[in-house]
Amino acid sequence: MSKKIILTGDRPTGKLHLGHYVGSLKNRIKLQNEENTKMFVMIADQQALTDNADNPKKIIESVTEVALDYLAIGLNPAKTTIFIQSQIPQLAELTMYYMNLVSLARLQRNPTVKQELISKNFGESIPAGFLAYPISQAADITAFEATHVPVGEDQKPMLEQTREIVRDFNRIYQKEVLTLPEIVLPEKNQGRLIGIDGNGKMSKSLNNGIYLSDSPDEIKAKIMKMYTDPNHIRVEDPGQVKGNVVFTYLDIFDPNKEEVAELKAQYERGGLGDVKLKLRLNEIMQELLRPIRERREEFAKDKEEVYRILKLGSDNAKEVAAKTLDEVKDAMGINYFK
Ligand code: TRP
Repeated sequence: MSKKIILTGDRPTGKLHLGHYVGSLKNRIKLQNEENTKMFVMIADQQALTDNADNPKKIIESVTEVALDYLAIGLNPAKTTIFIQSQIPQLAELTMYYMNLVSLARLQRNPTVKQELISKNFGESIPAGFLAYPISQAADITAFEATHVPVGEDQKPMLEQTREIVRDFNRIYQKEVLTLPEIVLPEKNQGRLIGIDGNGKMSKSLNNGIYLSDSPDEIKAKIMKMYTDPNHIRVEDPGQVKGNVVFTYLDIFDPNKEEVAELKAQYERGGLGDVKLKLRLNEIMQELLRPIRERREEFAKDKEEVYRILKLGSDNAKEVAAKTLDEVKDAMGINYFK
């Protein structure tokens, strides 16, 4: 069986939350332990800077937070290469060559970028680096010869862009230099988690998240104010299960599906209070998040060790990326002094 190479990553714009855990982090632990699989996990600080040029401090601080979250959920540096994007100069160099293969119109058509342009209110002042980040993402992916890229739906256009670059490059230079990657989307119902307010996906900007680093009290407080059914006022009133965030979470996190089914029936009949339900969810969430938080606290006490891990990972990643860059320059015929 040929080897699976996985590359994925996150923009460091804050701490990671339960939505990240359900949507991607949990799956990475599974992938990490697969036979015949090599995984690279990148902290995409350069990409984060493309729309945070005026607030670099936030990005730099978040690099450490995201690294702590990775180690806390069980990414194992002995198995997985964890690295920081900006420490791999080969990625920027690859980006430079790929930029010539992509038109401005093509970049402007990227649906995810289009959405971001609207929400970020750049107006006429779109940073060139921001518009070009899908090209830099193609460099991230191809530098490690990734065969599989596990990401959310919103990253589909980035993978399409990467595949176009790979095909164009290999065609122009008449050699199968770059590896064509495949997107791996989350399984049904494993996509991004709804926020505690029920208003949309869990996200920092909506301020509706439970963070992997939250204290037991914070977790409990957030669960107690979770959105349920606003018309379910007295315990004996019949309540709505659909759109009820507590039930959405129980469906995902409660291992006892039979009891959840009974609770739903009872809730719809009337006679089951929100508080009782929330306390049940609280217990489940505390149990899930306790070991993660404790591991995180341990690593947070030893930042030097965290940076040692990131440095080792980045050195390793640099070696791999340098090999690809060399092959790319060979194919292009620009290794003049070889
Ligand atoms: N675009 C991704 C995000 O917003 C981060 C990212 C950068 C990435 N480079 C990547 C993801 C390469 C997968 C592969 O979260």
